[in-house]
Amino acid sequence: MKFFIDTANIEEIREAAAWGIVDGVTTNPSLVAKSGRTLEENLREILDIVDGPISAEVIGTETGEMVSEGRRLAKIHPNVVVKIPMISAGVAATKILADEGINVNVTLIFQPAQGLLAAKVGAAYLSPFVGRLDDVGEDGMAIVQSLIEILDNYDYRAEVLVASVRTPAHVITAAEMGADVATCPIAVLRQLFRHPLTDRGLESFLADHAKAEKAREDTKLRSV
Ligand code: E4P
Repeated sequence: MKFFIDTANIEEIREAAAWGIVDGVTTNPSLVAKSGRTLEENLREILDIVDGPISAEVIGTETGEMVSEGRRLAKIHPNVVVKIPMISAGVAATKILADEGINVNVTLIFQPAQGLLAAKVGAAYLSPFVGRLDDVGEDGMAIVQSLIEILDNYDYRAEVLVASVRTPAHVITAAEMGADVATCPIAVLRQLFRHPLTDRGLESFLADHAKAEKAREDTKLRSV
């Protein structure tokens, strides 16, 4: 499974990229707003850090606007993936951009039918928002399962990109289901590394090693 980091914060991207597990980046207008910089400023810096798909979202909501924004973003670098919202005008824009060879990530997918339409018009990625579905009492991961089954039946190029990830359990369930990508905030990526028994185990290995070294040193000193 591929791991993307879901942020527009350059420090977070640098930190996660240094772990060697980051295959790509997703941003959205809220994350860009939080960074205090423009999308383009962020994009150019991110492209220098991560050599993989970087999703950049359009702001327009009419097909024509989304297409011109998408073309402009895609021109910045071949790794830029144009993120388009799952509305009918967005599906139409996705078809036009995909036909031109531009990679599109269709975002804000909350039901399988939306994913099917996005896949049909040539989206490269389908982004179901699992955490936001859980928040309203639905089963977010169920849509991931459904999208994987739908894609298994056809030759659509789309990959399932699990978004709005809130917990390591979302990531593991996504991997068990065979999702192509999980995009995670840095807090979730950090959690994936951790288990208290790992910390405790390492602590005792290092303490035992230090004790043995000291004993060896003491024996050496006594023998001179
Ligand atoms: C995905 O591309 C979105 O940026 C993101 O996963 C949204 O997550 P949120 O529901 O935590 O805002």
